Amino acid sequence: MDKQEFAHRREELMEIVGAGGIALLPAAPEVSRNRDVNYPYRPDSDFYYLTGFPEPEALLVLIPERPQGQYILFCREKDLEQETWHGRRAGLEGACERYGADDAFPITDIDDIVPGLMESCRRIYYPMGCYPEFDTQVMGWMNQLRGAARRGVNPPEEIIALDHILHEMRLYKSEAELHVMRQAAAISISAHKRAMQICRGGMNEFQIEAELNYEFMRLGSKSPAYPSIVGGGENSCILHYTENNAVLYDGDLLLIDAGAELDCYASDITRTFPINGKFSPAQRQIYEIVLAAQLAAIEQVRPNNHWNDPHDAAVRVIAQGLIDLGLLQGDLETVINNNDYKRFYMHRTGHWLGMDVHDVGDYKIEEAWRLLEPGMVLTVEPGIYIPAESKGVDPTYWNIGIRIEDDVLVTKTGYEVLTADMPKTIEEIECLMAEY
Ligand code: GLY
Ligand code: MN
Ligand code: MN
Repeated sequence: MDKQEFAHRREELMEIVGAGGIALLPAAPEVSRNRDVNYPYRPDSDFYYLTGFPEPEALLVLIPERPQGQYILFCREKDLEQETWHGRRAGLEGACERYGADDAFPITDIDDIVPGLMESCRRIYYPMGCYPEFDTQVMGWMNQLRGAARRGVNPPEEIIALDHILHEMRLYKSEAELHVMRQAAAISISAHKRAMQICRGGMNEFQIEAELNYEFMRLGSKSPAYPSIVGGGENSCILHYTENNAVLYDGDLLLIDAGAELDCYASDITRTFPINGKFSPAQRQIYEIVLAAQLAAIEQVRPNNHWNDPHDAAVRVIAQGLIDLGLLQGDLETVINNNDYKRFYMHRTGHWLGMDVHDVGDYKIEEAWRLLEPGMVLTVEPGIYIPAESKGVDPTYWNIGIRIEDDVLVTKTGYEVLTADMPKTIEEIECLMAEY
């Protein structure tokens, strides 16, 4: 993503913040994994959205209409010894030259400099309650300014949640963002296809996860966007299964929910397929219902439909399908109104997708479901889960957990499935698996 894209986002935010406001946004801290080892560093999505700056120990400050420069970045200074041990730093010069800051200062100087920058501002915008240490720091700076009232300092009067403003911006994806999301989707498709082709009875779930990770990294994704779910047989019925350490059996299904992250953008795909490459009649029956529900839900993705329309469509198809198979009793309206279908379909049909897999943005505006608009990206992921020993259910259906998930962009006229190249029908899946 080029510098212009980030500059444009900062300008858009500064329009909202306006003269007299100051926006403060810290980088995510490093997180310890165990002694001397941190988790791989992942920038805070909001911070990265505005800066593209990939290092920890940094603070973005935006002061609209400040004559000496509106965009200030506090970051680590260059330090050859530290860089020899821990890796390269942009330094103050890099912050300006490579990341477009008007001015850059050492992060160690924030307590000396930030209160002075806040002094001339009436409103502080910052992500309240996201980083406890930063909350304390901001309150400290506020109190410092209050304490200086007698020398004529007027401390800021308002503190406003920056996150909500930024999250509304992030909900609408630009062409540059969609370009990255399409690339992330393509990597995930390649990984899911590889997993389908390599899968055999007797393998372990972690061996399939290894194939996904291999393909992600081989194609330039440094990490999955979330822990991959690779659940065979009974594990396909555990929605957030991540143990991924059971043997796969010929005759069972395998549910894979995995997506690559690329340049801090997520993809999120689920496919479910037979480990031996051929759906059994019972698996086929349930699969056809989930697929029909997913297609019906995707058809509801268009501007001016509301957030819940795809979910309502999926619920109707699933409820009717389960009634037809005798797994639910009663007429359609009763099964829906009594939530009977939730026994087998207990989650919602999707979520916003973007830099975070469960991306930001409100789902309701006041009391009403939000209307879909061009540029929004959501997942569509209905499922049916029938664990073993399900009472009143024929055992041929036990241990069938099926979810089908695609990433869908709202366009001006309807939708575009970003993950459309991933095989999805029974014929496509069986054909792909037979090839190998
Ligand atoms: N992979 C998490 C989800 O589908 O929501
Ligand atoms: Mn998923
Ligand atoms: Mn999802």
